[in-house]
Amino acid sequence: MTEIALTQDSPAAANIPAPKHLPDAQTVTAVTHWTDALFSFRVSRPQSLRFRSGEFVMIGLMGDNGKPLLRAYSIASPSWDDELEFYSIKVPDGPLTSKLQHIKVGDEIILRPKPVGTLVHDALLPGKRVWFLATGTGIAPFASLMRDPETYEKYDQVIMMHTCRTAEELTYGRELIEGLKNDELIGEMVEGKLLYYPTTTREPSEHMGRITDNLSSGKVFADLGIEPMTAEGDRAMVCGSLAFNKDVMAVLESYGLREGANSEPREYVVEKAFVGEGV
Ligand code: FAD
Ligand code: A2P
Repeated sequence: MTEIALTQDSPAAANIPAPKHLPDAQTVTAVTHWTDALFSFRVSRPQSLRFRSGEFVMIGLMGDNGKPLLRAYSIASPSWDDELEFYSIKVPDGPLTSKLQHIKVGDEIILRPKPVGTLVHDALLPGKRVWFLATGTGIAPFASLMRDPETYEKYDQVIMMHTCRTAEELTYGRELIEGLKNDELIGEMVEGKLLYYPTTTREPSEHMGRITDNLSSGKVFADLGIEPMTAEGDRAMVCGSLAFNKDVMAVLESYGLREGANSEPREYVVEKAFVGEGV
């Protein structure tokens, strides 16, 4: 992992160029490469940008044709943060990410300041526990929600299930969650409330298997020593591939949970982590 970050003392920090070259430009302040295919980065936040933790925006770079090349990205930082954080895949030959993966501190990206999305607290009815269910980069909206005090005010227990093929791909989420315990702002709120259940499917690790299997078999309840899921007490937010979302929705429905939306809050909500893959 390589990290390039600006500190307040850094001469470069004082010299971040005022965004001017690109429309809706924001300046990159940090970049971390987690694996060959995953990286995260932070950018300046437009002063006027208000968003609800869990929402996504359109970001991108100028394309070779001189037009903005934009893609949807979940905001991984919480709504109180001065900067914005994103967690990204590097798709081989992907129109945006083949370029975006090379951004450096001081570069500019385009950010359209119109946040939207369904993975927000307002779209769920009140409950006792909330489950964040993610595969791959689908953890990004939960990186925001897990750092939001409102999450711990609303629920007695927050359970983060994240599944990737390999252990290396879990690192961003693992380090974020470990860091939360020492966080000045919400360290105390998180203590004893946030349960983390990472699994791998294609290499050995402490807990293995797909989220769908671990929920339907009851393995995750047994491993964490908690009560099985009920429609009365449990709420869930889901973010992964289309196939994952479809399968996990069936499991949640089998426990009696129903899909909600901003306009009609219910027991669970779903967002695609990316498009373009068949079900
Ligand atoms: P594209 O042409 O967009 O994608 C090429 C192919 O790569 C896709 O068909 C798909 O098979 C695969 N792919 C794309 N994105 C992913 C991914 N994240 N994980 C696994 N396979 C993928 N991507 C992120 O990396 N982080 C995010 O926080 C994020 N949030 C999103 C939120 C929403 C609501 C949606 C709809 C998508 C989100 N994406 C996110 C996907 C993102 O919009 C782009 O698809 C991605 O950045 C790749 O862009 P590209 O132009 O390089 O390739
Ligand atoms: P698996 O290795 O068993 O396919 P991907 O990289 O293909 O998007 O997958 C990311 C993670 O999501 C992998 O651990 C994968 O498990 C898991 N996964 C993929 N599809 C599903 C699904 N339909 N239901 C549950 N888990 C899935």
